[in-house]
Amino acid sequence: MPTLQLAELVEKKQIKPDIYKYSIQVPEIVKTAKPGNFIEIRITEGTDPFLRRPISIYQLIPEKAILEFIFQVKGKGTEKLSQKQVGDKIDVLGPLGFGTFKTEGKQKLAIIGGGIGIFPLYELAKEAKAEGKEVYTYLGFRNKDFVMLEEEFKQVSTNLTITTDDGSYQEKGFAINYLEKELTEKGIEAIYACGPLPMLKAVQNLAKEKSIDCQISLEERMGCGIGACLGCAVKTAKSPKEAPEYWHVCKAGPVFKAQDVEI
Ligand SMILES: Cc1cc2nc3c(=O)[nH]c(=O)nc-3n(C[C@H](O)[C@H](O)[C@H](O)COP(=O)(O)OP(=O)(O)OC[C@H]3O[C@@H](n4cnc5c(N)ncnc54)[C@H](O)[C@@H]3O)c2cc1C
Ligand code: FES
Repeated sequence: MPTLQLAELVEKKQIKPDIYKYSIQVPEIVKTAKPGNFIEIRITEGTDPFLRRPISIYQLIPEKAILEFIFQVKGKGTEKLSQKQVGDKIDVLGPLGFGTFKTEGKQKLAIIGGGIGIFPLYELAKEAKAEGKEVYTYLGFRNKDFVMLEEEFKQVSTNLTITTDDGSYQEKGFAINYLEKELTEKGIEAIYACGPLPMLKAVQNLAKEKSIDCQISLEERMGCGIGACLGCAVKTAKSPKEAPEYWHVCKAGPVFKAQDVEI
């Protein structure tokens, strides 16, 4: 059940010129949040911007009641958010999203992310590794200036592959090319993905071709975040008997079985 909390910002780190990691104290949310859930942040007490902004959970630290999230400054909302200082309060609603990453019954996982889509994959990898699963992580970035969280993901992966489109850091090309090469060799049983749409489509196709379970997190643009505004519709790939024509990403997702959605 989502709760509203006025959370204290206890740590702020700038990890790239336009990317920040915030640690906030939210005991109620940390208790129930799952990998793949997100929170909605009210940026100001006024009306500009009016709507809350959705941000994924990066990490949960239950022993300290801390939730960490990482965001890129995109527009007015995230710009204002980046001006918060340690000790400030942040109005947070969460955990949100019914669809979360599920790893039950899977032992060998492939996690693939691109750009800022890598953030919701960290807690998933951390929990899976702690449960003794094999976690093969593939992270793709445009070039070496965009590479981030390498050490953090290395700690929670059995093996980490970093790719850059131009080859300016580690492997050259797209992360999916490396996943595809290693899928059979590593005996991957399920794929978990978040990132730009072209990457998600390629992952969806690969999973279909190889008949492998695949879950993708869709970070569509959102309005209300609670199923009230229709601002986040995604077309379902199921028959009309099984599901409605569209799902709300904010309620039914953001994580979906790859074969259940048309992206
Ligand atoms: C479920 C979910 C989880 C998310 N998790 C994260 C996260 O962990 N870290 C993070 O940095 N961002 C995340 N986002 C994206 C984030 O919500 C937006 O970047 C943010 O709302 C932009 O608000 P703004 O007021 O700064 O920009 P706006 O003024 O609203 O928009 C500025 C620019 O950003 C574009 N934009 C806005 N929202 C999105 C979006 N969802 N996807 C792509 N482009 C967008 C707009 O088209 C516009 O060009 C997530 C989005 C969703 C739906
Ligand atoms: S964001 Fe309003 S219905 Fe999903």
